[in-house]
Amino acid sequence: MDSKKFIDEKIKEIEGIEGRAVVGCSGGVDSTVAAVIAGKALNDDLLAIYVDTGYMRKNETENISSVFETMGINHRIIDAREEFYEAMKGINDPEEKRKIIGNKFIDVFEREAEKFDADYLVQGTIAPDWIESGGENRDTIKSHHNVGGLPEEMGLDLIEPLYDLYKDEVREVARELGLETAEKQPFPGPGLAIRVMGEATPERTEVVREACYIVEDEIGKAVENGELDRPWQYFAVLLPVKTVGVHGDKRAYGHTVAIRAVYSTDAMTANFSKIPLDVLDRISTRITNKMKNEVNRVVYDITNKPPGTIEWE
Ligand code: XMP
Repeated sequence: MDSKKFIDEKIKEIEGIEGRAVVGCSGGVDSTVAAVIAGKALNDDLLAIYVDTGYMRKNETENISSVFETMGINHRIIDAREEFYEAMKGINDPEEKRKIIGNKFIDVFEREAEKFDADYLVQGTIAPDWIESGGENRDTIKSHHNVGGLPEEMGLDLIEPLYDLYKDEVREVARELGLETAEKQPFPGPGLAIRVMGEATPERTEVVREACYIVEDEIGKAVENGELDRPWQYFAVLLPVKTVGVHGDKRAYGHTVAIRAVYSTDAMTANFSKIPLDVLDRISTRITNKMKNEVNRVVYDITNKPPGTIEWE
């Protein structure tokens, strides 16, 4: 595929529309590429909306702001953390978490989009999103993977510039656009909420946010050093069990963090990554040093998909 030609064509197509458009940007590759292409076509008639749900990765909000600034995209960063945390109080069931986050996201997004008086919604839908769902019937299999029915709810016409592309092609387009986001691993819509087993309180979320950051950072460095190939996804989850540890000369109960890293080409099946023990050692030591009072045990998930899934919830 000729990425430059693709970008030029899509910009031309979108330039042809009459009216204004909004795009929901999560910081991931697909939505960022869609936003940048649409922004180049529509200039100030595009508004990119990023909602900080409180379940985003460490530094995500700062990173996306800087991408918008650099690319000159008209944008709004919405700090909705309190609203989401409130809605998630006492919620333990993974599907309920997904539903609540999806609905809340629609609420917040709609509120902002209405203010902008948009006619169109730009989405970063890519080929596997609809192919895996059985062609026309796009929502069947991966319904839980969409962040809620934005278009139907809002009555906006859809613009999906990446509709026919596969992930590696989107990454190529991202590189052509000069986006660092190009190499980013996939991140689920409900975010860190489904990486905290059980209730995703702000405190527990903070622990998993830091642990995910450390896993990403250490594996990123190890990849650069040639110690392993970059896995498809690599992150941490916070388990709902406390175990005994030693804190100074006292016994203490602390949280347990699991490390998950997999190789995959499409997320439908996956093999656990054989991370070198030295790298695991660095991750474990850094997590337990950084969060001395919270975490005293780190375990490594060695399950393939199937029978496991990539995420734990
Ligand atoms: P599983 O855990 O089902 O994940 O093996 C397959 C891929 O999908 C991502 N995932 C999600 N993405 N909303 C999303 O947008 C979700 O609710 C969700 N659940 C899982 C997961 O990270 C992996 O890439």
